[in-house]
Amino acid sequence: MLAQDLAAPNAALTVLDAVTQKGLAVGVLINNAGYGMQGKFLEMSMPEVERMVQLNVTALTHLTQLFAREMARAGGGYILNVASAAAFLPSPFVGAYAATKAYVLSFSEALRFELRGTGVSLTTLYPGITTTEFNEVAHAKTPAVMNLSILSANAVARAGLRAMFARKRAMIPGFINKVNAFFCTVLPRGLIVYVTGKILGRANGW
Ligand SMILES: NC(=O)c1ccc[n+]([C@@H]2O[C@H](COP(=O)([O-])OP(=O)(O)OC[C@H]3O[C@@H](n4cnc5c(N)ncnc54)[C@H](OP(=O)(O)O)[C@@H]3O)[C@@H](O)[C@H]2O)c1
Repeated sequence: MLAQDLAAPNAALTVLDAVTQKGLAVGVLINNAGYGMQGKFLEMSMPEVERMVQLNVTALTHLTQLFAREMARAGGGYILNVASAAAFLPSPFVGAYAATKAYVLSFSEALRFELRGTGVSLTTLYPGITTTEFNEVAHAKTPAVMNLSILSANAVARAGLRAMFARKRAMIPGFINKVNAFFCTVLPRGLIVYVTGKILGRANGW
């Protein structure tokens, strides 16, 4: 086992070096580490925002490149990048986090195309609200209207693994989350931002 702070500079290279030194070949990469920040952006700590971007965006991008290269050389492999339902909508009070996940969507789904013919597949997972420590870390309160969409970590992980080993492009676990994602793509963005801002603002008293 290797414990590594992935928000540290060059963390991805450190991980690759450690794996290489142990003589291990990596056939599966799951970029799951990440956290969110909820609140008024003007009041957020910038070093903490930068750390979040470093982890959610930079480390994920670098790990994907390093291990996809290794997998392509070896003739194949599986990558699962964990985005979020927040990737589909610019969300007030969680805007910087949602933007990191919109990056994961755009980067991962584009790179999947480039990986064709290498034997390496890249699947993107878009969980909705999931019962983990995420909300505690993000200081987030779940709006009551979202309660029906909440899934267990187990259900989300199973859906993600099934999709990854089936080499699917994307997986949105849960029926309600799928419906939400659909509406995010067809409704006017201004409307979605307004409604999301109202819901999150009301839940948190902003
Ligand atoms: N829970 C949700 O509602 C939800 C919804 C959509 C997307 N997601 C995404 O799902 C992924 C997993 O989050 P979660 O819900 O399982 O939250 P979590 O319970 O807070 O777990 C976060 C994970 O990220 C790791 N991590 C955090 N900072 C790290 C760092 N600097 N270096 C290395 N590892 C670090 C943590 O490791 P330690 O335990 O060692 O700290 C932990 O394993 C994240 O990418 C998150 O954005 C979660």
